[in-house]
Amino acid sequence: MSLSRHLIALSAAVCLAAGLAAAPATAEPRPRTLGELARKHHKYFGSATDNPEFTDAAYLKLLGSEFGQTTPGNAMKWYATEPERGVFDFTAGDEVVAFAKAHHQKVRGHTLVWHSQLPAWLTERDWTAEELRAVLKNHIQTVVRHYKGQVIHWDVVNEAFNEDGTYRESLFYKTLGPGYIAEALRWAHEADRHAKLYLNDYNVDGIGPKSDAYYTLIKQLKADGVPVEGFGIQGHLALQYGFPADVRQNMQRFADLGVEVAVTELDIRMNLPATPSMLATQATWYADYVKACLAVRKCVGVTIWDYTDKYSWIPSVFPGEGAALPYDENLRPKPAYHAIREVLGG
Ligand code: XIL
Repeated sequence: MSLSRHLIALSAAVCLAAGLAAAPATAEPRPRTLGELARKHHKYFGSATDNPEFTDAAYLKLLGSEFGQTTPGNAMKWYATEPERGVFDFTAGDEVVAFAKAHHQKVRGHTLVWHSQLPAWLTERDWTAEELRAVLKNHIQTVVRHYKGQVIHWDVVNEAFNEDGTYRESLFYKTLGPGYIAEALRWAHEADRHAKLYLNDYNVDGIGPKSDAYYTLIKQLKADGVPVEGFGIQGHLALQYGFPADVRQNMQRFADLGVEVAVTELDIRMNLPATPSMLATQATWYADYVKACLAVRKCVGVTIWDYTDKYSWIPSVFPGEGAALPYDENLRPKPAYHAIREVLGG
């Protein structure tokens, strides 16, 4: 054997040995994405998305490959799904669901009853309680029926409480009283018995007056036999306000009530410009938040509120703030991405 042939044979043997050592024939391939890593913990890791982003091929490639779940950021809101009274439009929502299906992703339905992003026909007139109940029931049941079997969860009621734990004076609360929440859950359940029904809010990460209000409400709903099955913790954090205390304990107390918990809209914003040290802190916060979910068996998954700073909602709503997501504006992973991977065991 010539020297060169000998070297080729030798290197082939070394490669084979190394390959065998790294990946025995029986082992599953190494998980490569956040979605796959989370699945090893029996949880999902997802990203919200929005229809205008569907023209961006590079964005879609990552959305479809890295994440095991998606939530339409706007497409299933009332203004989008029932723009005129009794006239339903599922175009945008269907687009998200079709993408998710093609990429084997779970979908969270967001959201049926919320004080914001309502169509003008609904907000620009006065309703009697009887009229509004009929409108609400029809809205909930038509949307839920349309997506029956296609969404794993519904955020049935979004942001029902004020910071001090009193009821938010939304159109629905003012016209129907607090009972609208139980009714909404019952109507949704009639339309899809399998989707898990959630209440969802922000600033409920730790234990405090607002999360206490949900704790009390969910306990009562369960006692009354109302089909509430999940508590959605949005998780819109900001570096300048500090990391919330007791995140894991808060999740656990809801789990102990008999509902599951999901982190539904995680992002961690900061005052711009972002510095390397701020991005490092952000990475730690993402890791700590994901760790809390991993520590609670009934925390079913984490959704970030889109994955790239290119499409984050933050700069338009909180002027001067941003850099809230694990990928930068050029779709490059930030320290937060690597920190999440590590916590998930990647
Ligand atoms: C945001 C969307 O991301 C924006 O595109 C839209 O302009 C406003 O709403 N809590 C929620 C989400 O429950 O529906 C919000 O989404 C962010 C705060």
